[in-house]
Amino acid sequence: MKLTILGGGGFRVPLVYGALLSDRGEGRVTEVVLHDLDDSRLYAVARVLAEQAATVPDAPKVTATTDLDEALRGADFVFSAIRVGGLEGRANDERVALAEGVLGQETVGAGGIAYGLRTVPVAVDIAQRVARLAPDAWVINFTNPAGLVTEAMSRHLGDRVIGICDSPVGLGRRIAKVLGANPREAFIDYVGLNHLGWVRGLRVAGRDELPRLLADPDLLGSFEEGKLFGTDWLQSLGAIPNEYLHYYYFNRETVRAYSEVERTRGAFLRDQQDRFYDEMKRPDASALTAWDRTRAEREATYMSENRETAGAGERDADDLSGGYEKVALALMRAIARDERTTLILNVRNQGALSVLDADAVIEVPCLVDANGAHPVAVDPLPDHATGLVCAVKGVEREVLAAAENGSRATAVKAFALHPLVDSVNVARRLVEGYTEVHPGLAYLK
Ligand code: G6P
Ligand code: MN
Repeated sequence: MKLTILGGGGFRVPLVYGALLSDRGEGRVTEVVLHDLDDSRLYAVARVLAEQAATVPDAPKVTATTDLDEALRGADFVFSAIRVGGLEGRANDERVALAEGVLGQETVGAGGIAYGLRTVPVAVDIAQRVARLAPDAWVINFTNPAGLVTEAMSRHLGDRVIGICDSPVGLGRRIAKVLGANPREAFIDYVGLNHLGWVRGLRVAGRDELPRLLADPDLLGSFEEGKLFGTDWLQSLGAIPNEYLHYYYFNRETVRAYSEVERTRGAFLRDQQDRFYDEMKRPDASALTAWDRTRAEREATYMSENRETAGAGERDADDLSGGYEKVALALMRAIARDERTTLILNVRNQGALSVLDADAVIEVPCLVDANGAHPVAVDPLPDHATGLVCAVKGVEREVLAAAENGSRATAVKAFALHPLVDSVNVARRLVEGYTEVHPGLAYLK
């Protein structure tokens, strides 16, 4: 079985390869094709993968190419993990937004819109090529903003594209753990958009255990989301929000914290990864050691500004292992080998969340089998959450429209309608600022 990874020179590719190495089952991936625009990044990542494979018998064969069509032909699965504009682009997304006093996070608010505007045209081109060259392939989209990008691709690939994120899985795992439940036996009642969802229940053997957690301030305060949001707020909500909702519920504090840092997250990662890829040019360097050290530092500093404003302290050791590669592997196995399972994924709604139309990509528990991911019907969200979901989906639709019609006015509308952008004038200046720094937005006229 052939897996093609777009963005194959990306820093997190060794996580995926590590997951593949642990898969010994019949029908596993035997061939990995890395595609990237940048040869030296491919070379660096291939070095890490070679060291990972050194001690493993029958490791999947790895090849690398800068030819997209060649990479796609004959693929059974395509992982799309691209970063249009690189980490320099991410740092610019943050800088331009913060200069206007709004959030520049890569998936939330103004930064997410800017990133979406330059990523959607590239993702659509990929989707069209997949439809032509590998029409039977399944596409698993990791590219952020993952919900929006998945929706853009679904217009060309239908339900053959599935978006993934590890944050709902991590959240479900943490809640199960504090409740003393086995995450594999628990059904996590979670729904929303990517990075904008809520856990409303956790059912084990038909019994909802979440009320027990919400009633117990000690338990509530003992894990990441409890520390981030505070027990009072979680009790008021009666649900556990995805960590990215911290940018909404504590917007003023997070914007201030991000404005005060010496280097934003994107700038930090840009510098950190520049060092890693430079180091990989030295033939004597141990690739795996350098990669592991860099990864650990990245994990430890994840959302550190948010945690600091909340006084949440360090991350729990259990939360440092990421996990998106595990979701990707579980998804691929479920489809390729009909290993039926339930996963929280980004798929077309198809009636699961009645307030949105059938084609809207949402993040929701899905039953996955050889026929793909089937969202389960969920209870409606409370009004305040429905309001946010609908507002942000409306913004995403404007981003998709702008990418299609190339209109600046539509791009302004996308920014202006976002709940975290507080003036149409700010939206206008954001479009000015972003088009100045991003060559990938030159299509906006
Ligand atoms: C979480 C999010 C991902 C994000 C990742 C890395 O897993 O769900 O969408 O890509 O963190 O974040 P970072 O700030 O390290 O790039
Ligand atoms: Mn994510």
